[in-house]
Amino acid sequence: MHWTGAEVPTRARGDASADPSLRRDAVEIVPGVHWIGALDPTLRTFDIILRTANGTTYNAFAIRGSEGVAIVDTVKRELSDEFFARLESVAGYEEIQAIVLNHLEPDHSGALPELMRRAPRARLYISTRATSMLKALLKPKEGNRPFEYTTVKTGDEVSLGDRRLRFLHTPFLHWPDTQCTYLVEDQFLFSGDVFGCHYCDSRLFNDLVGDFRFSFDYYYAHIMRPFKLHVMDALKLIEPLALKTIAPAHGPILRDRPRRYVTHYRELSTSSLADDICNQEKTLVVFYMSSYGNTARMAEAVCSGAEERGGVRVSLYDLEGGETGPFVDLIEEADALAFGSPTINGDAVKPVWDLLSSLAVVNLKGKIGAAFGSYGWSGEAVRMIEDRMRGLKMRIPIQGLRIKLIPTHEELEACREFGRSLSGALLGEREEGRVIDMADLG
Ligand code: FEO
Repeated sequence: MHWTGAEVPTRARGDASADPSLRRDAVEIVPGVHWIGALDPTLRTFDIILRTANGTTYNAFAIRGSEGVAIVDTVKRELSDEFFARLESVAGYEEIQAIVLNHLEPDHSGALPELMRRAPRARLYISTRATSMLKALLKPKEGNRPFEYTTVKTGDEVSLGDRRLRFLHTPFLHWPDTQCTYLVEDQFLFSGDVFGCHYCDSRLFNDLVGDFRFSFDYYYAHIMRPFKLHVMDALKLIEPLALKTIAPAHGPILRDRPRRYVTHYRELSTSSLADDICNQEKTLVVFYMSSYGNTARMAEAVCSGAEERGGVRVSLYDLEGGETGPFVDLIEEADALAFGSPTINGDAVKPVWDLLSSLAVVNLKGKIGAAFGSYGWSGEAVRMIEDRMRGLKMRIPIQGLRIKLIPTHEELEACREFGRSLSGALLGEREEGRVIDMADLG
């Protein structure tokens, strides 16, 4: 989304008497649909890896139809009291006929066992892939009633009389089980983690809360980005929907121009590089660090050889001159990556590890990887980098290349050949093998 100043949600001064964090009442979103979630303003870390400067919300909803009530999602177990208080302000447990969990991570399923116990007529609806998670996460305990459930797939519906819930299977956003639920008559999408963010503001709605753009993009980058291909699949289901409201499981409820967020997801998930290079061109990015200039000379020779083939766009970066953050974007869109590192104290150097360790947020599966480096006496770095790349599910079709200390003319030619082979692999030729140590060949 290209946010403009005019589109920044305005801050509204809350009426303390209407603040749901002070009063545990449900909040009406549209007639008959209430927010019954919980606020967690002091949370500062989520799932170990996410920083949550504004805390978060666990959004859950009650939907009243002419023939009963449905609950969509619950909250983290520790905040169950808030959830039940809000639920009780709009519905009786006997009225609940359907409980939908869009995603079984404990931040949404924590209150489920108690809800099932309190709502004896309710049936649970989950995605097919949620079955094993349900059994693992919510092992029945004494006093819990058995978890009877129905699995649903894209297009299945549950009727509440005058309202229908229709399901969209959107796997891996953010676990394999995830789905969205569409309230057909209201054009209202309960989107689970999709379009969510960790941003706690008791004003709840995107036209009332503070500026949450950073939180929205940060959440996408850490939760959705590794699954971009699945985001694209989900968007194929979501984009055709008429949308008046999107209610994600975390953060503001998107009632003001909700389609902007769908468009923004499309933009975030689409390769920007694809527009800048030729259709048939492949991309190789070479990163290196060098202590005495030896690995740098190797890197330049590798690039020179790779460029000889044509059809491969080659980029060279000295990690001494950059921060890892922007490189992650380059890496995500590259077809092949090569890392050059000297070996110091039996290890690759820290900037290389910093970059490699920051790649958990992108999908590298199937990309080509390669490693090279100069060394003094042991030279473990190349093999260690290769092992890390294999751990990231990259392919290593070209033997790693090590050169003892200062590369000779012949060894630089070997580096050029290494680059040619990399381009060849990118263009469809393959080689397999071990690390080549030029010192062993002398
Ligand atoms: Fe909000 Fe993936 O749980």
